[in-house]
Amino acid sequence: MNQIQESHKINEAARQLESGHLVAFPTETVYGLGADAENPQAIQQIYAVKERPADHPVIVHLAPGAAIDYWAKNIPPEAYQLIAAFWPGPLTLILQRADHIPDTVSGGQNTIGLRCPSHPVAQALLRSFKDGKGGIAAPSANKFGHVSPTSAQHVLDEFAQEIQHGAIGPVLEGGQSEVGIESSILDLTRLASHGPVLLRPGHISAQAIEQVLGVPVQFANTGADSSAPRASGTLDAHYAPNTPVITVASELFESTKTQLLAQKKHVATMYFSVPHSTIDLQKTFDLQMPKDVFGYAHRLYAALRQLDTVGAELILVEAPPMTAEWQGVNDRLSRAAFDSRFLLAQLLVANKV
Ligand code: TXA
Ligand code: MG
Repeated sequence: MNQIQESHKINEAARQLESGHLVAFPTETVYGLGADAENPQAIQQIYAVKERPADHPVIVHLAPGAAIDYWAKNIPPEAYQLIAAFWPGPLTLILQRADHIPDTVSGGQNTIGLRCPSHPVAQALLRSFKDGKGGIAAPSANKFGHVSPTSAQHVLDEFAQEIQHGAIGPVLEGGQSEVGIESSILDLTRLASHGPVLLRPGHISAQAIEQVLGVPVQFANTGADSSAPRASGTLDAHYAPNTPVITVASELFESTKTQLLAQKKHVATMYFSVPHSTIDLQKTFDLQMPKDVFGYAHRLYAALRQLDTVGAELILVEAPPMTAEWQGVNDRLSRAAFDSRFLLAQLLVANKV
């Protein structure tokens, strides 16, 4: 598609947003399902098609250079330091919501999540929408709890019916999302009592944030943190395909696979170290993942979606290293595997009886 047609499509999508419709668009992290952030009915439509609980807030996407003080109040200097360092890019900042911004966008909370994406199609859409002065509320374009989409095709697969019935307008094409996992989310609303709190790890690491701010970053979900803003991506079970996912330590990966195959289980696998044993292609579908964390994150969701379609009974994942740089990937894998966390033990015990 040539550039003129492409910008025509983007402008048309911006008009659709302005008239209250939903538009799916690419970002560098994952594809988003967007609505006018100042139109509560349009945001309610997002909740309806995603089948998402109404008290979960959505991130507001802004054009480069947009005035964040339109959206947030009592903005601490730390926010501006982080914006200078990481925007446009995969970092969402949680700030206090400005009084005139409808609370539908933050699930009734008094905070707001803001992010400026770096993907050129997302930026062109944001510049065209309300002349660059609007905000596009957009969660990931998937059903609640399911794997996030990293290509336009994933969105078309996820919402085939809604698109056909017109509940979702245009799906803008933007290739494979480069980062592949959702933005890092940093809460700056409790600086005085807690410091900066990372609600969701991602491509922009705690270390990178610490380097800019010069203070330690705290982690949500470690220890009692009941005052943390609710974040759906921080629910234990999330980002999951329909097929149960089981992660096992690298040292146990081969032996576990062998035991499961001995039970005639149809196992799909995701591994990153070179496999030692001969693979029984009748019963396994094996995907080799990149060994570097950025390559792995880039492929993660497409791999889970692919393995979800091969008719396997379970997806066995060789756990990546537990080091800080893998935090974002390990977070997504552990949430994808949460609902099946007892399955492996059950299967192996059943075999011994
Ligand atoms: O990379 C991303 O962040 C992608 C792309 C489309 O930008 N979006 C995304 O949205 O992952 P979603 O809705 O799937 O996840 C947004 C997360 C949720 O966990 C939500 O609860 C949290 O951000 N969030 C949004 N606004 C918040 C707020 N005011 N306070 C606390 N958490 C918030
Ligand atoms: Mg999501």
